[in-house]
Amino acid sequence: MTKLRVLVLVREGHVPPLTLEGVSEEEIDPWKAEFDVCETLRRLGHDVLPLGVYDDLAPIRVALRDFQPNITFMLLEEFHGVVTYDFAVISYLELMQQPYTGCNPRGLLLSKDKALSKKVMTFHRIPTPRFAVFPIGRKVHRPKKLSFPLFVKSVVEDASFGISQASIVHNDQALADRVKFVHEKTNDDAIAEQYIEGREIYVGVLGNTRLTTFPAWEMSFEKMPDDVARIATSRVKWDRKYQIKHGITTHAAKDLDEATQERVSRLCKRVYRALSMSGYGRMDLRMTDSGEIYVIEANANPNIEYGEDFAESAESVGLSYEAVLQRILNLGLSYKAAWMAV
Ligand SMILES: Nc1ncnc2c1ncn2[C@@H]1O[C@H](COP(=O)(O)OP(=O)(O)OP(=O)(O)O)[C@@H](O)[C@H]1O
Ligand SMILES: [Mg+2]
Repeated sequence: MTKLRVLVLVREGHVPPLTLEGVSEEEIDPWKAEFDVCETLRRLGHDVLPLGVYDDLAPIRVALRDFQPNITFMLLEEFHGVVTYDFAVISYLELMQQPYTGCNPRGLLLSKDKALSKKVMTFHRIPTPRFAVFPIGRKVHRPKKLSFPLFVKSVVEDASFGISQASIVHNDQALADRVKFVHEKTNDDAIAEQYIEGREIYVGVLGNTRLTTFPAWEMSFEKMPDDVARIATSRVKWDRKYQIKHGITTHAAKDLDEATQERVSRLCKRVYRALSMSGYGRMDLRMTDSGEIYVIEANANPNIEYGEDFAESAESVGLSYEAVLQRILNLGLSYKAAWMAV
């Protein structure tokens, strides 16, 4: 294997140490993905330089000049605290004619905007819940075709920020209140979509032109009381005690017959292509009791921490964590950016 110089862009304050010796679990949590990536790339024999970035491109320019990376590994999820600016950082790397891992600028821009991505999906007849956008500063008028229950969230946030049981609303007053809450909490426009009762499914996709999907992964809620909706709220995702109390785990989706797995895989590849994604992604789906599948959102550059859904579902078909990261590097190196044709 060729030894590569890999510049790893991480959020300021998330540059991981070389070892985990003497570090507590709580201390590790915020930069666990960054650690797993850097440590594994080093184990693969690559020369790794992690760089913390917050609101300045100059350190990136200096690192490109002095370290001369063969590729930049993109682990930044925001710039200057803005979650939609990851596409601008990747655009900068393209302008600098640098290979990078993960999604290209267009795919990042399209997939991060839940409303825009759903408009594109609708054009391609990809099943996604009906929706309306409620911009900050405007009165909430529910379109007649949008009936309750509805699910209200920020149009661009991720990590379930601002998502709780109260995100599901059953009348116009609750809708207006929740839209106001989203505006105030996230500073983003709100989107309300048809609430899909059903199973929670995640599917990893890897590739640029030829795509691989991993087996459908499911979040289950074994001990959740019946009157609590089985949705991935921020507590469900991040609160370990809550996860144990309610028996929340993720694992290969059980009882999906081959035809359904195939249908899910084809659907996810269509979404990936429709949104111009590249590198690696994760689709979030909901599956109803009658077997209808809805695309909730497409995540470009999803969490690739060791032991998380993407890596686990890859491992279930024999692709080790090391192999996943090496594939991601290779896909970055082979991506045909526009500047290469000039
Ligand atoms: N229309 C919907 N119907 C039912 N559940 C929904 C709907 N939209 C969102 N959810 C629930 O809320 C969760 C989070 O929603 P979504 O994936 O859109 O937000 P996110 O903050 O971008 O999440 P992340 O980036 O962590 O995947 C979903 O995984 C699902 O459980
Ligand atoms: Mg999601």
